[in-house]
Parts: sequence; C-alpha cells; structure tokens
Amino acid sequence: MSSTFDLVVIGAGPGGYVCAIRAAQLGMTVAIVEKRGADVKRVRLGGTCLNVGCIPSKALLDSSERFADAKNHFGTHGITVGNLGLDVGQMMKRKDGVVGSLTDGVAYLMKKNKITVLAGTGRVVKAGQVAVTDGAGTTSEITAKHIVLAMGSVPIELPFLKIDGEQIVTSDHAIAFPQVPRHLIVVGGGVIGLELGSVWARLGSQVTVVEFLPQMCPFLDSDVAKELQKVLTKQGLTFALETKVTGATINKGHVTLSATDAQGKVVEFTGDRVLVAVGRRPLSDGLDQAGVTLDARKRVQVDARFTTNIPGVYAIGDLIPGPMLAHKAEEEGVAVAEFLAGQKPIIDHDLIPNVIYTHPEVATIGLTERQASEKKIQIRTGRFAFAANGRAKASGESDGFVKILADATTDRLLGAAIIGPRASDLIAEIAAVMSFGGSSEDIARLCHAHPTVSEAVKEAALDTLGRVLHG
Ligand code: FAD
Ligand code: NAI
Repeated sequence: MSSTFDLVVIGAGPGGYVCAIRAAQLGMTVAIVEKRGADVKRVRLGGTCLNVGCIPSKALLDSSERFADAKNHFGTHGITVGNLGLDVGQMMKRKDGVVGSLTDGVAYLMKKNKITVLAGTGRVVKAGQVAVTDGAGTTSEITAKHIVLAMGSVPIELPFLKIDGEQIVTSDHAIAFPQVPRHLIVVGGGVIGLELGSVWARLGSQVTVVEFLPQMCPFLDSDVAKELQKVLTKQGLTFALETKVTGATINKGHVTLSATDAQGKVVEFTGDRVLVAVGRRPLSDGLDQAGVTLDARKRVQVDARFTTNIPGVYAIGDLIPGPMLAHKAEEEGVAVAEFLAGQKPIIDHDLIPNVIYTHPEVATIGLTERQASEKKIQIRTGRFAFAANGRAKASGESDGFVKILADATTDRLLGAAIIGPRASDLIAEIAAVMSFGGSSEDIARLCHAHPTVSEAVKEAALDTLGRVLHG
C-alpha cells in the first residue's frame, strides 16, 4: 500500500465518506481513516449518522409508529387485530440489520471508488502528515497533499449525571434498550429528546421531558413548538418546561432528578432511566495541540472554503459551526473536494432544511418569523391547516399546518415551517423554489396533484397573497 495520497480524510461519517467519494470521482488518490470498530478489527464506516444516529433512530421511529398505529388507530379504520404483542428484541434486530446493510454499503462504495480505508485513530502531525494508530496500538504515518478533518461530534455530558450506559444514558444507549423503560426521563427537549422520547412513549414508557428553556426546540417559532407540544402531549409525553435539572440521586433501579422550576420551586422526577440529550459537542480534542484554531465552543474555525488556519488542512460537518446535520456535512464534503479540484462550488447555508421526525414531522427552512423580526425584514405570512386538506383528512393525519414567509415587498420566499404529515418530503419543494430565488406566487401557480398533502403548501402560498381557496 502506498502511504502518500492526494487527500486523507479523518472520520468516515456522512461528511468524510462523501468527501472521499467526490474527491475520488475527481481523480484524486484518497485514504479515509476511521476509528469506529478498529479495536475489534471490524471498522464501521458511516459515522454517527449510520451507526448510532439518523438511521437507527429512524428505524425505531418507523417500527414504533406501526405499533402505535396498530394499538391506537387501526380500530377507526375498521381493522381489528388480536392480541397485539411487542418483541423489542426483534425490533432491535431489524434496526441493526438496516444499519449493517447501510454501513456495508459505504464499505462497498469505498472499494468501488478505490479509496483506501485505514482502520484506526487519525491525528494531524502537521500540514501534509497524518499519524494513524490501529487497534493494536501500532502507529504509522501517511503523507497527503490535503487533509480533511471530519471527526464529527459526541454527546454533551452534565457534570452531575455521569453516563453509566444503564440508568443514565445518551442516545447511543437509548437506541438499544433491551426492554421498554417504565419511566424514561429525558433531560433536554431538543431533537433527540423528542424523537427518542416518542419511540419509547409509543412502545409503552411513561416519558417526561425536562427542558430548561420556556419552549422546547428553541430554534422553532413558538406557534410551531406549541403545536408540536400539543400533539406529543396527546401521545402521552409529559413536559416540564423552564425547569433546570440540578442534581441526581442514583439508586439501583431508579434515579431521582432534582430540578428548579419556573417559580424557583424545587421539583423531583423519579424514573428507571434518564436520557441526557442536551446537545452534542464537536470532537475536536487535541486539535489545538496540532495548532488548529478552535472557537470558544471548541469548533474548528474555517473560512468560506472550509480551510483551517493551517494551509492544506480543511474541516467539515459537526466539527465546524452550523447545524449538526448529516446533509449539511455531506454538502460540505462535496464542496471541499470540488474546491481542491479547482472548481467553485456554492453552498447556501440558509437553505439547509431541518427535520424533526416525530409524528407528525416538523420541517423548517430559511428564516423563522422571530429571525425576520430581529433582522427587521417586513414579511407576509401564509398559513394553511392540514385539517382542511382532503388527503390529510382521508388518512386521519390532520394535525398541524404549513406556514410560509415571503418578503412583504418582493414576495420572495424567505422561509417555511411545516408541522404535519410528510413534512420531511414537503419541505423539498420549498427548498427548490427558494434556491432559485422564487416567490410564493411561484408555488401558488404550480399545479399540485389532488388529493395530496402537498396542496397544503400551495394553499399556504396562496394565503400569503390573500387568495387562499380552501381556508
Ligand atoms: P460523524 O457522523 O460524527 O462522523 C465522524 C466519524 O469520525 C465517526 O465515525 C468517528 O468514529 C470518526 N472519528 C472521530 N475521531 C476520529 C479520529 N481521530 N480518527 C479516526 N476516526 C475518527 N442528522 C440528520 O441530518 N438527520 C437525522 O435524522 C439525524 N438524526 C440523528 C439522530 C441521533 C440520535 C444523533 C445522535 C444524530 C442525528 N443526526 C441527524 C446528526 C448527524 O448524525 C450528524 O450531524 C452527522 O453524523 C455529522 O456527520 P460528520 O461526518 O460531521 O460526523
Ligand atoms: P438539541 O440542541 O437539539 O437540544 C438540546 C436541548 O436541551 C435544548 O432544547 C436545550 O435548551 C436543552 N438543555 C440544555 N441543557 C439543559 C439542561 N441542563 N437541562 C435541561 N435542558 C437542557 O440537542 P440534542 O437533542 O442533544 O441533539 C443534538 C444534535 O443532533 C441536534 O442539535 C441535531 O443537530 C442533531 N440531531 C438531528 C436530528 C434530526 O435532524 N432529525 C435528530 C437528532 C439529532
């Protein structure tokens, strides 16, 4: 094996492996270093997303939604099931199968694109030089014209809630519980808390979400967050907002969290498992020793071409500022490879969709109403409820609405929020129109198939123009 490459990527998550593929397509010789599984001589590609993030969580969200449907909704369709059973082991086996086939797929893509996979922990020695320590502790050095850092992120821990993987857990463990917890307490009402809280609530856990801000998912407009809280409450989740967890007493079989509520009163929550989901931090440990400049939140500082302060060393994905999302990491991976090949790629970071895969889903893009007001941009908003959409009614999924924001003068689309059925797919139309600089009139004039939930997007666009038809 040659130990000199055009490009060495450290970290094989969606940022790193996609960057490696694009660079290979552009004719570079590429190596990718990944530590996951290196200790057991079975390197696992795909990063957080495929192994312990997007994919396993979505597999469990889909399985648990089927269970909840069979339990709560089949009756209204005139469908009776006998004794409904739950085999958590089989559900986990299916999830592991989905993860395995996708991570094997990434290994196949590496082979197909002639990318050298190095199992071990990578470390930047200096510009052009990377040290790789394998599972047995042997270190070898490789040289490269360019180095891309794509080491991703890990869960943030709270000092008084030491993760033990049993009673106090992160998402890594909450996607693999062997049984349904009796009472799952979730610290943090963000995306992980709501998605994994939904999974276990559907399967029968009592779920309490403790969030220290007055609103869950603080990046959402309050009307969207309130609607989501309303439907999740109907599904059995309990929320304690403006409540700051301050300590924990851990006994065998149960944990009691103490917290201070909005009135300053001390409150307690007791459950058998606690999921700590208070955000993730970039895995930038040790990079400052290699001379890489980090910001106050330990994210790698990069310029518009993803270059760090060290020439020839680049960084992408969860390691750098911006939303911690797989598709954002992928776009950045492609862009870096194209920059290296002398191309001029463009990423519009204002057009990255954000989806919460609860039921109903929530999808947002562009500005929120709050941000528009902070930026003093005059907007018109259009809104359409799924309760007035024929397809949503027919499938019994009429919670939620579409909200569209357009510039008050030019009608240019500035943002959207959708809470409702297939929001994750519906947002793509808005993303496409926004990326062409389109207006709400553009969406309103497009013919949308009937009956589809996408008609709610058209109606919301019509509403910004004062011409809603069915509302
Ligand atoms: P990562 O995916 O974290 O990959 C980094 C890789 O680098 C890892 O495999 C790590 O082992 C490896 N590595 C680290 N240091 C070294 C080293 N020194 N040497 C060698 N290898 C190293 N995002 C979405 O867009 N949609 C979702 O639905 C979604 N769901 C999620 C659900 C959960 C439970 C979690 C935790 C996250 C979810 N995310 C989701 C976020 C998404 O997983 C991340 O944004 C994405 O994986 C970031 O990609 P990345 O390539 O930057 O880093
Ligand atoms: P998050 O940032 O989404 O939410 C963390 C929440 O915890 C916030 O609401 C915050 O106010 C609250 N919090 C912080 N400290 C607290 C404390 N001490 N007590 C109580 N509440 C506290 O982080 P989360 O949910 O851990 O997810 C991490 C990241 O992973 C997300 O930001 C997202 O980028 C990514 N992700 C994306 C998904 C998707 O795209 N569907 C799914 C899951 C994760």
